[in-house]
Amino acid sequence: MESEARTLMKELREDHRNMSIVLELIDDVVEHASSGKDPDFELLDEIMRYMTVYPDAVHHPKEDIMYAQLRKKRPDLAEGLDNVPDDHNEIAALGAALRDEIEAINAGAAVRRSKLIKDASGYVNRLRSHMAWEERDLFRRIDTMLDEDPQEFDVAKFEHIKDPVFELQVEAGFRRLLSSLKRNSSPAG
Ligand SMILES: [Fe+2]
Ligand SMILES: [Fe+2]
Repeated sequence: MESEARTLMKELREDHRNMSIVLELIDDVVEHASSGKDPDFELLDEIMRYMTVYPDAVHHPKEDIMYAQLRKKRPDLAEGLDNVPDDHNEIAALGAALRDEIEAINAGAAVRRSKLIKDASGYVNRLRSHMAWEERDLFRRIDTMLDEDPQEFDVAKFEHIKDPVFELQVEAGFRRLLSSLKRNSSPAG
């Protein structure tokens, strides 16, 4: 039977797939803005609100606990993990700054387009490379830990918290984000 830790790892990987899709939407907005057109700021606002209420508030803290367990149970596999919580904090800070910038734009403030493009692409690049590192390295170390001792990992304290967009589809708060996702996932050919 699959251990709870395995279920949690599946959820973390699923989160990454969902976050990648959302980052692609930010790419589209940045591309739009770079070509001189007016980007959909309301969509960007929903995206950044989503990033703060799910990835920053649920996904990263779950990972922090997984990595803390890895450090505790398998210090031999935990090299280079000390920076992860800082990485998560920095990503959250970049995301919060970008969200504030977009909220200010939506409230009528003049923000230079070049600054928005720079901040949004900086955020996307930072988060993307963080997730790539986790997938090619950190998640595999946790898999190794679980392969060798699947029972040793107590994840009972995790309550499954739903993703407000990909699982719950809370229309009221994320209407634009949801319809952009639906548009982009329509089958090709
Ligand atoms: Fe992470
Ligand atoms: Fe992650």
